[in-house]
Amino acid sequence: MTSQTLREARKYEEASEKLIAKEERPDFHLSARTGWMNDPNGFSYHNGKYHMFYQYHPYDSKWGPMHWGHAVSEDLLHWEYLPAALAPDEAYDRDGCFSGSAVTLPDGRQLLMYTGVLKEHQANGAFCEVQTQCLAVGDGVDYEKYEKNPVLDAKDLPEGCSRFDFRDPKVWQKEDGTYCCVVGNRPADGSGQILLFHSVDGFAWNFRKILAANNNRFGKMWECPDFFELDGKWVLLTSPQDMLPSGFEYHNGNGTLCLIGEFDEETETFTEQHDQSIDYGIDFYAPQTVLAPDGRRIMIGWMQNWDTCNLHSPEKSWFGQMSIPRELFLKNGRLYQRPVKELDKMRCNQVVHENVSFSGTIHLDGVKGRRVDLEVMLRPGDVEELYRKFAIRFAQNDQYHTSLSFRPYESVLKVDRKCSGSRRAIIHQRRSLVNSSNGELKLRLILDRFSVEVFVNDGEQVLSMTMYTSQEADGISFFADGSVSIDVVKYDLGTVEK
Ligand code: FRU
Repeated sequence: MTSQTLREARKYEEASEKLIAKEERPDFHLSARTGWMNDPNGFSYHNGKYHMFYQYHPYDSKWGPMHWGHAVSEDLLHWEYLPAALAPDEAYDRDGCFSGSAVTLPDGRQLLMYTGVLKEHQANGAFCEVQTQCLAVGDGVDYEKYEKNPVLDAKDLPEGCSRFDFRDPKVWQKEDGTYCCVVGNRPADGSGQILLFHSVDGFAWNFRKILAANNNRFGKMWECPDFFELDGKWVLLTSPQDMLPSGFEYHNGNGTLCLIGEFDEETETFTEQHDQSIDYGIDFYAPQTVLAPDGRRIMIGWMQNWDTCNLHSPEKSWFGQMSIPRELFLKNGRLYQRPVKELDKMRCNQVVHENVSFSGTIHLDGVKGRRVDLEVMLRPGDVEELYRKFAIRFAQNDQYHTSLSFRPYESVLKVDRKCSGSRRAIIHQRRSLVNSSNGELKLRLILDRFSVEVFVNDGEQVLSMTMYTSQEADGISFFADGSVSIDVVKYDLGTVEK
């Protein structure tokens, strides 16, 4: 039975969505149907479609009591909104249905596992959020919360594990048909850890072990874990809070972490071998993956940043968008990402400029726009003297620009959105150490009205960020201090306006 709270949310979102013009949203990135969106949830392939649920507060463009929004897609780029799937309407999730995941049960129903939040009055007068893991089962549109919820709570936790920071279950089915899930938790040392649970039927769950412990190495609490096999290794993704920078690898605040290692399935032991950021830009958090029917491991993240997202203009009735879906693979021991191949079908109006040698600033014929796929191969123009700096400015008009610049002597690539319309001195730049020899660099920029995602060296690193400047700022220019030579291939993406 659909609760009154969910019925109201569904009615509200249906009416409000109509007030948002298509051009006011990203074209092929999923954005909040109305109101606020954060983490991707329940990213899954069910009944021939990809499902994406998301942390959702339909009534305001700010975070609030969490619902689950819902959308489906056949190609991961054209999304159709479905009615909100979950609302905070039970005694155990009254204060929010937090992040979680989805699997298809053997009988064809879809199982959602999420974190129920309930504020509890403490002896000192404060309120703390008790977090438990809960289930809902449905047909792909309507979901019934499980009568035995919560299925995991404080009783299931070993000593020292916090019952206030216990969230974001990511569930998957093993080859033998049983289920596992990983959940973020805070241990006694105040940092983060990932707990592993097991279930025979997806409904009754048991604690297995602490899969990975932060020990205060990478930020504090670890949120939104995901754990999967990739190219012969196992990959643990998580989003740590309160990170400190470590060289160019991590940045302050809410970050992302990828641990690559070996997993002994017998003893359920994960041995870390490598750590890195998942994304090197400004806006990327809480990614989740799905295994596509053709075997690709595809990841989508929330393309915002907790530290900057509350400063957006209140005039807009929606806020929050997802990243481009990215195919993951391992190369040279690192996590690589490339935009899903489905994006190639959206490319049109190809423009090619080869061996353009220049210094100073240039514009290239036919190279502009805010929904663009832009490939740039950069080389030094002069073998005797390496150039000092190369930059691409985009989303540009007389007043605004967003930029990507590269200094070959330091091998540092920088994204910068301080001239992208923000009236606040918040995080606007991030630098990344990239692999470049002799000043060569391969870049692919995906722009979709309010964002750019930069894929470096065929996916060795990705830098994502949003910018909310007006669409008239659609210029693209190239700058070089010294002499460079570039090959540029540009496509328009999405529906082309005349
Ligand atoms: C991460 C997160 C999750 C939580 C959700 C609440 O962005 O803090 O840990 O489940 O957002 O909306």
